[in-house]
Amino acid sequence: MKRLLVLGVLATQLFTAASAQEKTSPEEIKEKMQWFADAKLGIFIHWGIYSVNGIDESWSFHNKKISYPDYMRQLKGFTASNYDPQAWADLIKESGARYAVMTTKHHDGVALWDSKYSKLNVAKSTPAKRDVLTPFFAALRRDSIKCGAYFSLIDWSYPDYPQFLKDSNRYDIKAQPERWKKFLGFYEGQMAEVMNKFNPDLWWFDGDWEHSAEEWEAPKMRKMLTDHNPNTIINGRLQGYGDYDTPEQNFPVTRPHFHWWELCMTINNNWGWQPQDTNWKTPYEIITIFADAVANGGNLLLDIGPRADGSIPDEEVHLLKELGAWNKRNGEAIFNTIGGIPQGHFYGPTTLSKDSTTLYLFLASKTSGPIMVKGLSNKIESITVLGNNTPLSHKIVGKISWSPVPGLVYIDVPEQVQDKYVTVLKVKLDKAVKLYRGKGGFLTNE
Ligand code: GLC
Repeated sequence: MKRLLVLGVLATQLFTAASAQEKTSPEEIKEKMQWFADAKLGIFIHWGIYSVNGIDESWSFHNKKISYPDYMRQLKGFTASNYDPQAWADLIKESGARYAVMTTKHHDGVALWDSKYSKLNVAKSTPAKRDVLTPFFAALRRDSIKCGAYFSLIDWSYPDYPQFLKDSNRYDIKAQPERWKKFLGFYEGQMAEVMNKFNPDLWWFDGDWEHSAEEWEAPKMRKMLTDHNPNTIINGRLQGYGDYDTPEQNFPVTRPHFHWWELCMTINNNWGWQPQDTNWKTPYEIITIFADAVANGGNLLLDIGPRADGSIPDEEVHLLKELGAWNKRNGEAIFNTIGGIPQGHFYGPTTLSKDSTTLYLFLASKTSGPIMVKGLSNKIESITVLGNNTPLSHKIVGKISWSPVPGLVYIDVPEQVQDKYVTVLKVKLDKAVKLYRGKGGFLTNE
């Protein structure tokens, strides 16, 4: 509960920050956020030199699992020799995702573009010898997928950045403000490079926890990005100056209070490629998590970690293809919908068409008997199974003529019409959904 309150307050701050900075009306903000609200699925890509040894991205040296020089030796192995940016974009398209977020620079400070601010980039310091971002963003745009740039505010490699290893800082900002200023010039310069080169539709900042909004110059950064592209969307990791929230890995149990939110999640247990990590989530697990996020008004940003040569592990390819095939059958219930009815009416995720006259019910597991909906005051016009259009009949149980309690809707779902993973029922209502949420009672006038 305490956490929820904190989250609620945070959400308010996010809005205040956004409108205060850009002086845009709530309507304008809503308009800017619309593609994101409709997109539902994004693919996150963690690609960097950490995929050479297959170790934790940046954290491995910060946490002293490997020495800094050994970590940096991975530069020599980053070849990108099988990198096919168009194939990446096409796979993302096939998954059904509407946007992708690519690491432009992680906390290790290794830029994936040819930065003029530092040699620590894959074009100047690795056998890949090229900017790997430009062709990828171009391929995404060819496939009409929105382009997101992950950008780490933290840069543990930069000699004038205070933090370095978990137990050794380089200096204290208050004691040496000129060093921090130097870092700011560098970080703002690199951010401007990414902005000017790629004009991201979305910025995915990370690592804001190491400094305050003031120290990061967050308002100035936000202004720079939105002056350049007023439509750009900024995630919530800019110390209160973002547009939406980013719960990480853990699925929120109750519906988040934020207006816009996105769950970021790995397919196995790690962001980048790690050969020993074979704890792959199954298509069924991902689809149920995805449906639950959308039902609760959020998006899923699903991460893949390509190898150093640019190849994507088969398990991830398989997962994205299965997810895409499921989206083809059931996407009507996902894309361009809004979050569903409150928990308690149906034991599973639900979504609604934007006009709320169609209710989609997600059956998270195979069922051999009828399913049930409580407290639905509408008249049902039709029920069909998405993917095969099979019409289903329903029965109203327990409706008493004199009571406002609408009775229970039982829908029989024969096994042979069910989806391989998650079945979706399309329930067409007579008008916008109307719910009964009372407790019933005897001869009361509720
Ligand atoms: C965390 C980690 C980082 C990872 C990110 C993705 O903030 O610092 O390694 O890239 O989560 O959400």
